[in-house]
Amino acid sequence: MYKLGPFKSSDLRTIFAWQNTVGDKRTTMGFRFPVSDETASLWLQKRIKPLGKNPTEIYWALREELTDDLIGYVTLFKIDYINKNAEIGIYLNANRNTGVGSNAIRDCLVLGYKDLNLKKIQAVVLENNIGAVKVFTKNQFKQEGLFKNHYWDGENWQSLLILAHFA
Ligand SMILES: CC(C)(COP(=O)(O)OP(=O)(O)OC[C@H]1O[C@@H](n2cnc3c(N)ncnc32)[C@H](O)[C@@H]1OP(=O)(O)O)[C@@H](O)C(=O)NCCC(=O)NCCS
Repeated sequence: MYKLGPFKSSDLRTIFAWQNTVGDKRTTMGFRFPVSDETASLWLQKRIKPLGKNPTEIYWALREELTDDLIGYVTLFKIDYINKNAEIGIYLNANRNTGVGSNAIRDCLVLGYKDLNLKKIQAVVLENNIGAVKVFTKNQFKQEGLFKNHYWDGENWQSLLILAHFA
């Protein structure tokens, strides 16, 4: 079981380790180069500062219910309050392929549609990121576009799938 909540400054070591996990950099199209303590710290500070009234980016940390350990996050970003859409991102450092991602995506959709009154949420994933494509499609995201050979993963050109979910 997990719970959603804010990041804490004590999450820094975990964030630093995630951002330097080479395998995940490719699947998430994350930091291409080594990430310093300072970069990880700036990234975290940006996510724990007060959000204000209409934030364009919200992160929810995912924590183990009992231990409070940080296990991942979900985010809505590029939030557009006029056109009522946003992009979703998700990262789990462990507990993959056990349904946690699926549940967290559903929680995030509820927050986006009910609290933010959004009408459409988009996911942009690498076509070869099988787990990500599956977790979004099994939660009723439908493909609405493809950016062919759009991302260089260090060895090959990869295509991006644009998936969308409507309220
Ligand atoms: C993508 C991610 C969030 C999915 O979360 P999760 O908890 O593993 O998702 P779920 O367990 O709900 O579903 C994943 C499904 O993909 C399947 N899967 C994963 N890798 C697979 C593979 N290589 N081949 C076939 N199926 C695969 C799982 O078996 C599972 O299928 P099921 O529902 O039939 O059991 C998680 O793997 C993750 O954090 N990955 C790294 C970050 C990332 O890629 N984020 C997405 C970019 S936005």
